[in-house]
Amino acid sequence: MATWPRNFLFAALVGGVLASAAPAAAQAAPPSGCQTCHGDQAQPALAAPARDFAGTDVHRDRGFTCVDCHGGNPNETDKAKAKAPATGFKGKPAGQMVIAVCSRCHSDAALMRKYAPKQRVDQAVEYATSVHGQQLAKGDTKVATCVSCHGAHGVRLVGDAQSPVYVLNVATTCTKCHADADRMKGYMLPDGSPLPTDQRAKYEKSVHHAAMVKGNDLSAPTCNDCHGNHGAAPPGVGAIANVCGTCHTVFATKFALSTHSQIFDRSCVECHGNHDIAEPTDAMLGTDKAALCTNCHTEGDNGSKAATAMRSEIEKLKEAISHSQALVASAENAGMEMGEQSLALREAANQLTLARTEMHAFDPKPVSAVLQAGLGITAKVDSEGQAALAEVSYRRTGLAVSLGAILLVVVALALKIRSLRA
Ligand code: HEC
Ligand code: HEC
Ligand code: HEC
Ligand code: HEC
Ligand code: HEC
Ligand code: HEC
Ligand code: HEC
Ligand code: HEC
Ligand code: HEC
Repeated sequence: MATWPRNFLFAALVGGVLASAAPAAAQAAPPSGCQTCHGDQAQPALAAPARDFAGTDVHRDRGFTCVDCHGGNPNETDKAKAKAPATGFKGKPAGQMVIAVCSRCHSDAALMRKYAPKQRVDQAVEYATSVHGQQLAKGDTKVATCVSCHGAHGVRLVGDAQSPVYVLNVATTCTKCHADADRMKGYMLPDGSPLPTDQRAKYEKSVHHAAMVKGNDLSAPTCNDCHGNHGAAPPGVGAIANVCGTCHTVFATKFALSTHSQIFDRSCVECHGNHDIAEPTDAMLGTDKAALCTNCHTEGDNGSKAATAMRSEIEKLKEAISHSQALVASAENAGMEMGEQSLALREAANQLTLARTEMHAFDPKPVSAVLQAGLGITAKVDSEGQAALAEVSYRRTGLAVSLGAILLVVVALALKIRSLRA
């Protein structure tokens, strides 16, 4: 979630401490017959757990062993004795059993406090509320359990760049299943249509993915920022504006003032989509074909009038800015100092951005106020630009007059010299 940088710093700190403490912890763990025998198995499914556990594993680093999850007797080298019924050996946990195995510790606040005092202990509770948890409770084993997202052996801190839930890896982890059409076959949306499997393809085209992957902006959202880490569900009616609003606060505040907020079930998503959010353009606003207002509003209704009013004022300021920019540029080319005016134009452009935010209350009045302020700036720049150009032409005329006068004097002198010679 949005807290990852804190988790990351925390993980880095803990990781640093553990790097030095790890050998001691490994020594403290009793030599395990499970580890030794499984490490020697030819079958990958039997050997991989031992190998992965011996590599980077947060549980091993904290001094836990195989039996903390599987039960059994770690001191036996004989298979039958190691797994005798009296040892509490559980075998390979599956389904609901996985949740029980992991949450034995992760839901135990007293135990977790000893290792990570600030860590949440509500993963299993949250999970139970998710679509994954609810389906699992009904016996559906195709959904995600703790190990689908974290693994069982070789579990890493969530801030570790190789963790499957590290911010840049989340989309791959979720879409292992969600982009697998076979696995997702038979699931429906509430309206009875098949559950889409295009979330990743769409997400990879979005402004959010671009900001994260190309722009290196790790604060841009990936799957779990909008769906939660453990409570994964489609954000319900009324909740979407809150999801988007955790980051786009001002937009959500303006939107809450609008008529739309009272009537849209899917708030922001009605206009921007959810997974394939594109870079917005002014063309989305207004009543021409590309505008999205015309999807619902018809010519002459209040929405349509508001759309036209806001769009045409935005266009007016855009034109005014580019007109002023041209004026300032030609004055600069003529050698005039226009630094102050260039700065003012940047402020006018800020008003344009502000108007696009203000627009989310879908009320032309406040939008107009902001744009008028921008137009005030361009008008002032224009008059200063004009004055500068007038100054240039005044100087040029002055120069031409004085050059003319000099020329006259030169000619007169030449004539005088010639007449003297004659
Ligand atoms: C002497 C070798 C040996 C020892 C010791 C041993 N195992 Fe195994 N284990 C195996 C083999 C071989 C299998 C494959 C199934 C079988 O033959 O019973 C297996 C299977 C498993 C499975 C998969 C069971 C399933 O239901 O699919 C788990 C989990 C497991 N062992 C955990 C442990 C744990 C935990 C310990 C220590 C308490 C341990 N093993 C000790 C050899 C061993
Ligand atoms: C943090 C808990 C945890 C620890 C520690 C752990 N396991 Fe497991 N293990 C699991 C879970 C959960 C599964 C089921 C994984 C799944 O369904 O993908 C599993 C599966 C297995 C399997 C079956 C693999 C398969 O694909 O059939 C074996 C074998 C196994 N573990 C052995 C071990 C051995 C040996 C150790 C110690 C070196 C160990 N485990 C440590 C939780 C753990
Ligand atoms: C659908 C995928 C998914 C499932 C299922 C899942 N997790 Fe997570 N888990 C995540 C993500 C994503 C994060 C957060 C990564 C971050 O903070 O950036 C996370 C974080 C965690 C953390 C770090 C503390 C925290 O809460 O942020 C723990 C511990 C954890 N999970 C344990 C569990 C346990 C136990 C289960 C099973 C009850 C489980 N997870 C099920 C995806 C999942
Ligand atoms: C025996 C207790 C125990 C069991 C069982 C257990 N864990 Fe843990 N787990 C811990 C402790 C302690 C930590 C270390 C927390 C820390 O220091 O950040 C941890 C850390 C983690 C982390 C990293 C959290 C972080 O801070 O980034 C994840 C993810 C995780 N466990 C997932 C699981 C999953 C999945 C299972 C079940 C397969 C499981 N755990 C079973 C005790 C346990
Ligand atoms: C192991 C496979 C698997 C993984 C991994 C997985 N999911 Fe799921 N997910 C499912 C299945 C199967 C469903 C059940 C669909 C249903 O009942 O509608 C589901 C349901 C959902 C739903 C509810 C869809 C709906 O409208 O019913 C959301 C949202 C969701 N998952 C998000 C995520 C996110 C986010 C992640 C990663 C953090 C993730 N899932 C990881 C298999 C998975
Ligand atoms: C910017 C926020 C956001 C991001 C990022 C995001 N989702 Fe969603 N997702 C939503 C919203 C909002 C809905 C519900 C839309 C609705 O009601 O139409 C949704 C719906 C879903 C559903 C239900 C089926 C569907 O497609 O409508 C699934 C499954 C899902 N998302 C999975 C994912 C996965 C997997 C990822 C990562 C690749 C992801 N989402 C990224 C916001 C997001
Ligand atoms: C975790 C934070 C976060 C969440 C949640 C989030 N966004 Fe974003 N969004 C960003 C970041 C970061 C950017 C890229 C930087 C920017 O342009 O502001 C961005 C960019 C955008 C843009 C493009 C802005 C531009 O000027 O090009 C739109 C539109 C957008 N998000 C809409 C949404 C909607 C709709 C939702 C909810 C479904 C949402 N966002 C959820 C953080 C978030
Ligand atoms: C009724 C349709 C509609 C709804 C609902 C809507 N928007 Fe927008 N949004 C637009 C239009 C149209 C633009 C483009 C405005 C422009 O460029 O003139 C836009 C632009 C944006 C931008 C980019 C602004 C910029 O500076 O270029 C962001 C970010 C954004 N919206 C976020 C949100 C969020 C968050 C929500 C929900 C709280 C939301 N929008 C709800 C229509 C909508
Ligand atoms: C998904 C459908 C939908 C879209 C898209 C949409 N609107 Fe609306 N809008 C409505 C509905 C329904 C109402 C309430 C009924 C009405 O007044 O027409 C409304 C009301 C309004 C109102 C208030 C009208 C009043 O009488 O108070 C304004 C202003 C408005 N919309 C502007 C816009 C603008 C501008 C856009 C494009 C950026 C837009 N709408 C896009 C459905 C939509």
